Amino acid sequence: MIKQPEIKKPVVKQPVVKQLDSIYYVKDFTCEVDSLNAYLKTHIWDDIDKNLLSCFAAINNSMEVVGYYTLTTQTLSTNNSKSASVVFIGHLARDKKHRGTGLGEHLLIDALLRSYTLSKASIDSIGIVVDPIDAFVETLYAKYGFIKLHDSGKMFIPMNVVEQLI
Ligand SMILES: CC(C)(COP(=O)(O)OP(=O)(O)OC[C@H]1O[C@@H](n2cnc3c(N)ncnc32)[C@H](O)[C@@H]1OP(=O)(O)O)[C@@H](O)C(=O)NCCC(=O)NCCS
Repeated sequence: MIKQPEIKKPVVKQPVVKQLDSIYYVKDFTCEVDSLNAYLKTHIWDDIDKNLLSCFAAINNSMEVVGYYTLTTQTLSTNNSKSASVVFIGHLARDKKHRGTGLGEHLLIDALLRSYTLSKASIDSIGIVVDPIDAFVETLYAKYGFIKLHDSGKMFIPMNVVEQLI
């Protein structure tokens, strides 16, 4: 029997990721989750202007946003009733046109790197928290070492594990 050659996905050059700016076009951004489309187009600047979060976006050659995520800092209660700072990665999404190209993972790695840098530079977080929307996204986060938190659907990765990843 002739052995079929392994089908390899082409290596895709990923768009550059930058801090969101109003010069970039968001009107055509479409992922599978309507609330993430609407948030980018209508609400995100309210939260940025209030300093509630930072947004980083993948920008294509036409200055369009083709993916994005947000970073916030939060306080987590620990077992010994103390609190600790964590970085929260939210709103992770890539445009449908980039499905299967690895852009989502590219954004996640970018988010891990920025969270780590932010933590080292100022806030000294113990780790990163995410809130996966479904089992597929949970698997994606688990692949990078996120573990489920007991009392919620959220997942956590300690900053020293992030340090080994990047
Ligand atoms: C989560 C996300 C960023 C991951 O991006 P990614 O790692 O680049 O992965 P892709 O979306 O390109 O999907 C990779 C493969 O998984 C499949 N897949 C994607 N979402 C899926 C889901 N919910 N269930 C099952 N399969 C799924 C895709 O069809 C694709 O298959 P293909 O390679 O055969 O085309 C991206 O799927 C996305 O933006 N989804 C919509 C928004 C969202 O759910 N965000 C999560 C918020 S917590």
